[in-house]
Amino acid sequence: MRRTAPIDTARLHLRPYRANDLAALHRVWTDPLVRRYLWDDEVITRAAAEAVMRASIACTAQHGFGHWAVCPIGQHDLIGFCGFRFLGDRADVELLYGLAPTHWGRGLATEAARAMLWHGFETVGFTRVLAITEVANTASVAVLQRLGMHVQQRFAARGLASVRYVMTRAAFRRTHAEAPRAAEPRRRADRALGRDAARRHA
Ligand SMILES: CC(C)(COP(=O)(O)OP(=O)(O)OC[C@H]1O[C@@H](n2cnc3c(N)ncnc32)[C@H](O)[C@@H]1OP(=O)(O)O)[C@@H](O)C(=O)NCCC(=O)NCCS
Repeated sequence: MRRTAPIDTARLHLRPYRANDLAALHRVWTDPLVRRYLWDDEVITRAAAEAVMRASIACTAQHGFGHWAVCPIGQHDLIGFCGFRFLGDRADVELLYGLAPTHWGRGLATEAARAMLWHGFETVGFTRVLAITEVANTASVAVLQRLGMHVQQRFAARGLASVRYVMTRAAFRRTHAEAPRAAEPRRRADRALGRDAARRHA
């Protein structure tokens, strides 16, 4: 089993799901504004949400990545999710993200996704990440553009205009170098080291 440390950003704590996240996660996934594009507007059952959540926990344990809980820093209450899942033949991974609507409009999804890309490229070792969204999901398209992802293909999925974005590790490293420091993830261990260093120099 792989040990996977949580990731802190300036405003967020990202960590693998825990069994007791289910109620909050199900609430987010069945919110009318979230489920519209995420689940084709279907109100998924709690059992279906649990199966998806447990698959992500298992993927994290085995491969070191999954989609994880997004929590405000210093809290353990889940306000959304962000991370990766394998695509069909497992040759690629897809970036996923979503927040409860009361947390929209503050840049939190982009902050979480940027931290997750960092985790995927620099810790797990991905060489590229894909993201797929309906064109009509303009908020999601905007997140991908803010992340610096590039359009790979436009296509119709079940008759709906969709777009696949890609980011390579090389491209991420170029854009990440320009990212504001505040949005960069910092490992707990790094922070502890930082505190120790500060004490030593005090
Ligand atoms: C996709 C989704 C997460 C986007 O949410 P969002 O709040 O628009 O995205 P962000 O959290 O990155 O916030 C960006 C917005 O915050 C604003 N903002 C405010 N303060 C900010 C800050 N400090 N830093 C950055 N942006 C900030 C930005 O200007 C932008 O607003 P705009 O779109 O009006 O220009 C949300 O619509 C959602 O949960 N949808 C349902 C799930 C879904 O469809 N997921 C995608 C497929 S997996």
